[in-house]
Amino acid sequence: MSPSQSHTQHAITLQGVSMSFGSALALRPTDLTVHRGEFLTLLGPSGSGKSTLLNLIAGAIAPTAGRILLDDRDITFTPPRDRGIGMVFQNYALMPHMTVFENVAYPLRVRGCSADEIRRKVHEALERVGLKGFEERKPRQMSGGQQQRVGIARCIVYSPAIIMMDEPLGALDKNLREQMQDEIKRLHTDLGTTFIYVTHDQEEALNMSDRICLMSVGEIAQLGTPDELYFAPQSRFVAEFIGESNLIEGSISGPGRMAAAAGGEFVLRDTTRAKGAAVTLMIRPERLHLLAEGETAPAGANLIEGRVAGTSFIGGMTRIQAEAGNGLVLTTKAISEHVSRRARPGTPVRLCWNPEDGVLLDR
Ligand SMILES: Nc1ncnc2c1ncn2[C@@H]1O[C@H](COP(=O)(O)OP(=O)(O)OP(=O)(O)O)[C@@H](O)[C@H]1O
Ligand SMILES: [Mg+2]
Repeated sequence: MSPSQSHTQHAITLQGVSMSFGSALALRPTDLTVHRGEFLTLLGPSGSGKSTLLNLIAGAIAPTAGRILLDDRDITFTPPRDRGIGMVFQNYALMPHMTVFENVAYPLRVRGCSADEIRRKVHEALERVGLKGFEERKPRQMSGGQQQRVGIARCIVYSPAIIMMDEPLGALDKNLREQMQDEIKRLHTDLGTTFIYVTHDQEEALNMSDRICLMSVGEIAQLGTPDELYFAPQSRFVAEFIGESNLIEGSISGPGRMAAAAGGEFVLRDTTRAKGAAVTLMIRPERLHLLAEGETAPAGANLIEGRVAGTSFIGGMTRIQAEAGNGLVLTTKAISEHVSRRARPGTPVRLCWNPEDGVLLDR
């Protein structure tokens, strides 16, 4: 580790980095710090700028403005191969005529390593990804999951300071994706290297990341831990992109109170908003409780009445939708065995929530 690396906790720092392709702005001026050793995921809908951000860090493209630092060293215009950043691609990008061994050995040959070192490191990398014994296969003789393991082995074989993956599991089916998510997480723990990971799958991001950088049309919508994004979204976009959400619109009617546009007044956790301010209250479905017949709401809880509009059985949980009047539809989730008896469409229901579980968003 060089002296300059020893006093920074930041692997990558972006300062005012923006990217335009012709007249199209793919990334607005962005500041971002990636901590040393963390697993950071860039999450967002298609076209939000995830790959652009990754390619800027990798050096595949140069920014229109701003600076990129790697451990305090300005690498804005450093060629990709001199950055020490490894990349895993969605389409594997393996060389089809080469064996697995040669594919993984390639980055070491380019770096002029000795034959002994190459043999040792390739075997170590293949063992790490569970592909010992596959050395002589060609990529086309392997499954998608195995090919992506080769892609990962080729990335880790030369111990890059940062490992970046752009939708690496995008081409795999659900079960394999979940298995590979666990393997990649384990790899991150074992190597201790900084990972920057791109996905548009929110569950994958929630499962894998130390922090998530949620992107929306060329800018960061929110950067935080999976918990922060789920429980404390700062905007409607974040609330709707991560998980399921109930959104109740209205305006502040008094200190810590809100009048819903659909009718009813609710107690808020937040007491700082000015009277009359337009707001949206967000409640996660699992925080909205369906009261049983005769059951009273806990003291201080907000209560809303409605009728069951529909239910869907999703395995261990059942999702219940309730019409609460004036077009307001609320969704709640409950453990299946307790609700299957009482949630018939049209049944009157009462829903309640603790004001602490309501998140106030600016409209
Ligand atoms: N080489 C390019 N030339 C012109 N426009 C581009 C180029 N690369 C990206 N863009 C544009 O920049 C924006 C961001 O693209 P980017 O590839 O970063 O999105 P993304 O978040 O990775 O999307 P996806 O999930 O579909 O991969 C898009 O509007 C895209 O059309
Ligand atoms: Mg992309």
